[in-house]
Amino acid sequence: MQTIDILIKNGQIVTAGGHEEPVAGAKMNELQVLETGCIAIAGDTITAVGREPEVLAQVEITENTQIIDAEGQTITPGLIDPHTHLIFGGSREDEFVMRIQGASYMEIMEAGGGILNTVTATRKATLQELKQSGRKRLDWMLKMGTTTIESKSGYGLDVETELKQLQASYELSQEHPIDIINTFLGAHAWPEEYKDNHSAYIRQIITEMLPLVKKRGLARFCDVFCEKGVFSIEETREIMLAAKELGFDLRMHADEIHQLGGAELAAELEAVSADHLLMISDQGIKDMRSKGVIAVLLPATAFTLMKPYAPAQKMLEEGLPFALATDFNPGSSPTPSIPLAMTIGCLYMKLTPEQAFHAVTINAAHSLGIADKLGSIESGKQADIVIFDVDSYRKIPYFYGVNLVKMVIKKGKIVINN
Ligand code: NIG
Ligand code: FE
Repeated sequence: MQTIDILIKNGQIVTAGGHEEPVAGAKMNELQVLETGCIAIAGDTITAVGREPEVLAQVEITENTQIIDAEGQTITPGLIDPHTHLIFGGSREDEFVMRIQGASYMEIMEAGGGILNTVTATRKATLQELKQSGRKRLDWMLKMGTTTIESKSGYGLDVETELKQLQASYELSQEHPIDIINTFLGAHAWPEEYKDNHSAYIRQIITEMLPLVKKRGLARFCDVFCEKGVFSIEETREIMLAAKELGFDLRMHADEIHQLGGAELAAELEAVSADHLLMISDQGIKDMRSKGVIAVLLPATAFTLMKPYAPAQKMLEEGLPFALATDFNPGSSPTPSIPLAMTIGCLYMKLTPEQAFHAVTINAAHSLGIADKLGSIESGKQADIVIFDVDSYRKIPYFYGVNLVKMVIKKGKIVINN
């Protein structure tokens, strides 16, 4: 019998288990929950999950085993945030005020604010400064139960700064409990220097940035902000095809503000995910489903921009699986909180807590290509676990504006203990 390091018992366990594929349609409402369960952890791995007698029959407890009594508490997989812009200089609380007074996201951007504002601050920041602010944001996330995130560049828009951003998140991933999966987003806006010469910037992305990022192993994914006035469908296709050729997996900012056919393009390119999708067409939903592209929905962004929400109910009807993410960034979504994204998703996209939990665990893992190891509490998976100080998972999106996290375990180590 295997000796174990940690035994968690007596809590309600959301395993989110039982699925090989991304969870879609009616299955999203069937969340696997053990009313009173027990989890055994050895090293960084979950070795058994189930009712206490079943688990105890499979493992050996020694005097070194730490027993955690989670009576009255809820245990979930470590939350996964598959869309963030973690690394940036400066902040944009002035735009928050402009938006309250009626300015739109695109108006702010066209006035030289928005992304370009952050580009100026990020270019000025040193690697150490970017790491320092990034570390603080990772601490916020971890405290709220997030154990793995995706992190994009896109506030450099030049070779040096794009690499500096990716280097910062790469180093933070080594130093911080949260695991970070990097995405190159050099095509996030047109840099000032190239505003009248788009093709030259695309050439720089394709011939300089992508090969360098690849060579240094700094990103797994390539993303493009495909939007009217930003990167067109044709420009997005050109960049994405070059990235694919170099071996990048693809994700896309698609159909956020205008219905451009971004979802259809993501399907054509067989991207891993297409994100935002507030304006997605019915055809886009069908195309994504048939090509296995997961939707990543960002309800905190629609909330912040005071826009209509992505059509999650239609996606459920059509059987298109979706994840939820924060889109954490200094403009359109300054929240690092997955529980808040769940609350907003429940209230405004009419998700049930069961659907929302699938979206921030196993489906989020699928959207990053890491579901073999993460996203559920199942024997053999990595021990990334959160204990919330409420006796039912339904209370997690319900009580919002309060941090309910009691304990976070990352790779079998207790990293937050309140
Ligand atoms: O995902 N939509 C484009 N990019 C980000 C916003 C970035 C910013 O405003 O700084 C997003 O919402
Ligand atoms: Fe984004």
